[in-house]
Amino acid sequence: MHTDAILKEFTRQSAAFNVAPVMRSAETLQTIVDSMPAASASETWLEVACGPGLISRALAPRVRRIIGIDLTQAMLDLGRREAARAAIANAGFIRGDALQLPFADGALDGAVTRFSLHHIPVPGRCVAEMARVVRPGGLVLVADHVATADGPAAAWHQEIERLRDPSHWACLTPEALRATGERAGLALVSESQIPFGMDYEEWLTRGTGGPQMRALIDRLLAERPAGVESFRIRRAEGEPATLHLRFWLSVWQRGAGGHSSDRPGASGYTVPDEDEGGPRGK
Ligand SMILES: C[S@@+](CC[C@H](N)C(=O)[O-])C[C@H]1O[C@@H](n2cnc3c(N)ncnc32)[C@H](O)[C@@H]1O
Repeated sequence: MHTDAILKEFTRQSAAFNVAPVMRSAETLQTIVDSMPAASASETWLEVACGPGLISRALAPRVRRIIGIDLTQAMLDLGRREAARAAIANAGFIRGDALQLPFADGALDGAVTRFSLHHIPVPGRCVAEMARVVRPGGLVLVADHVATADGPAAAWHQEIERLRDPSHWACLTPEALRATGERAGLALVSESQIPFGMDYEEWLTRGTGGPQMRALIDRLLAERPAGVESFRIRRAEGEPATLHLRFWLSVWQRGAGGHSSDRPGASGYTVPDEDEGGPRGK
């Protein structure tokens, strides 16, 4: 089952993910925090599939409260520890599923997710859930790696990603990512594609499949099909190999008319005040 793959992968990855330079870089972290124009000191935001809460911790000074939700307990434990270490008092971390957010309709001011949709078999459902729990007028931010539209090029990319991390499901094209927000009834405020690079060795060895699949991944990367726009390796003499990708960053607004999720809102559950206030079991 895919949830088992997620738990296995991200329990193992948690510590390395938390310190991965690519996850903390200005391109991938600060760009997202800076694209939250409406976030204010009085707002409560949700970070969906928060991992160790890098976005939550970066956003915390700008909002009244930020709640991170994730399936992987090791990630949540790390997020709590790191928030405590940084004396961040307004960040909470709860265990839960991005496809069934434990919040009432419109309970939150905003929601953000980064680099999660490519792990989720039904990414549109995640975006619809984010749209559901945000109040009318509230913002939804979605950021994820992009795939190239060309079929064989996209397949080549996914194969490499899955060899290195078996919990990878599929990167979408910008058009397919945009369609998830449109289907959720959200209005697009802005979108952009942001190039970023990551240390190939760090990326490869962080994934559970990477060390074992290194030779095959190296060979596949060298056989890059024509037309690949994102996901290119550069090896310069005397420098660490770098993998270059692009991610799509979008800002959406929930209109007064609401959303198109077919899931009834989670009843009787609004916003927890304490770290321990959320649902635990799964
Ligand atoms: C690549 S990490 C990204 C972490 C964080 N969003 C960031 O960018 O720093 C993907 C995270 O998604 C979580 N995840 C995957 N599927 C999920 C789901 N259905 N519900 C909640 N979390 C999920 C994993 O546990 C993992 O922590």
